[in-house]
Amino acid sequence: MRVLVVGSGAREHAIVLALAQDPAVTALACAPGNAGTAAVAEQHGLDVRDPRAVAAAAKTWAADLVVIGPEMPLVAGVADVVRAAGIACFGPGADAARIEGSKTFAKDVMAAAGVPTASAVTVDTPARLDAELAGFTPPYVVKDDGLAAGKGVVVTDDLDAARAHAMRLLEDGHPVLLESYLDGPEVSLFCLVDGPTVVPLMPAQDFKRVGDGDTGPNTGGMGAYAPLPWAPPDLVDDIVTRIVAPVAAELVARGTPFSGLLYAGLALTSTGPQVVEFNCRFGDPETQVVLPLLRTPLAGLFHAVATGTLDRQPPLEWSEGAAVTVVVAAHNYPGTPQLGDVVTGSEGEGVLHAGTRRRDDGAVVSAGGRVLSVVGTGADLAAARDDAYRRLEGVRLVGSHHRTDIALRAVQGEVAVPTPA
Ligand code: GLY
Repeated sequence: MRVLVVGSGAREHAIVLALAQDPAVTALACAPGNAGTAAVAEQHGLDVRDPRAVAAAAKTWAADLVVIGPEMPLVAGVADVVRAAGIACFGPGADAARIEGSKTFAKDVMAAAGVPTASAVTVDTPARLDAELAGFTPPYVVKDDGLAAGKGVVVTDDLDAARAHAMRLLEDGHPVLLESYLDGPEVSLFCLVDGPTVVPLMPAQDFKRVGDGDTGPNTGGMGAYAPLPWAPPDLVDDIVTRIVAPVAAELVARGTPFSGLLYAGLALTSTGPQVVEFNCRFGDPETQVVLPLLRTPLAGLFHAVATGTLDRQPPLEWSEGAAVTVVVAAHNYPGTPQLGDVVTGSEGEGVLHAGTRRRDDGAVVSAGGRVLSVVGTGADLAAARDDAYRRLEGVRLVGSHHRTDIALRAVQGEVAVPTPA
């Protein structure tokens, strides 16, 4: 099977590495890829938001399967055009990708499916903002209704800061979602979804704030770990039954079945799991810890979803042990990152590339806000965490920063699901 992966982050590097292990894969390409994926897959320069360009590249390369990593091309309808060109594609069409592309649409689907989520209102004009904000209590949650690479969300106790973020978005013409705050540890559950069929992967936790102790602004994600030693044993079944399967069924009922990876971002509150967000693709950096633990060959799973045969797949197989990833970010990320700095140590084991490119002189240089995702594995979470931070010591990037507390509270047994009062 010839597989073309679309995207250029550490998520795509993790996907490419997992596909490379699958004996069914005879050729691998990544478009546009990065300096890390170039070591494993052919690289093809491409504007991934251009559906016809992606379909044409897939056709020219004679791809049997196209796997679309990021949300932007999915929301732009790339999967629809690839499928229309007669090529199997892992990723939802534009109609189903609206579950991520519009938070208001996602809330509507959840309401129809009876799925627990934060109460919310959409504001599309500054004139309504103050009156709607007055209906909420701190912490205020203000979200860009559309795609914002994880950076459109502000959670703050400060009403003025909440208002200022909402005004900035509204003035840029973006509708805003105001939400009630959901307390409790967050969980990312990735599910392979093929119409009504839902196959959950292993749950993970990511760290969205830039600073240790969950401080500072939101980012695309600064680290992650899996599995969750503190999670109740029935957590995944409960989330699938009460949340993901009803949403998949609702999308089928609307005539826009989901095909691909449906990511449920949840808060485990004292009244049970509630949805923070749905995404229409694998999460980054959680993918970097989930895929190394999956033993079932990945290309076969993607192909089954893409061809409507997920319900005929045997149960997934997982390795024992744990994985932790720590993101190395460029100076000033999540603000405008400093780019073009030389990265050394990026060829080390477990070092996945995100925003990198190879300069003409052969040096690897930073080319994005999140530059590397360093993955450690081990027999348990503590060992995996030690491994990740040990590997990170071999990496050098001037001005870079990373969190030092990824998975720490879980290792110390300090994460707990709140119980009803
Ligand atoms: N880790 C958050 C995301 O992928 O959206």
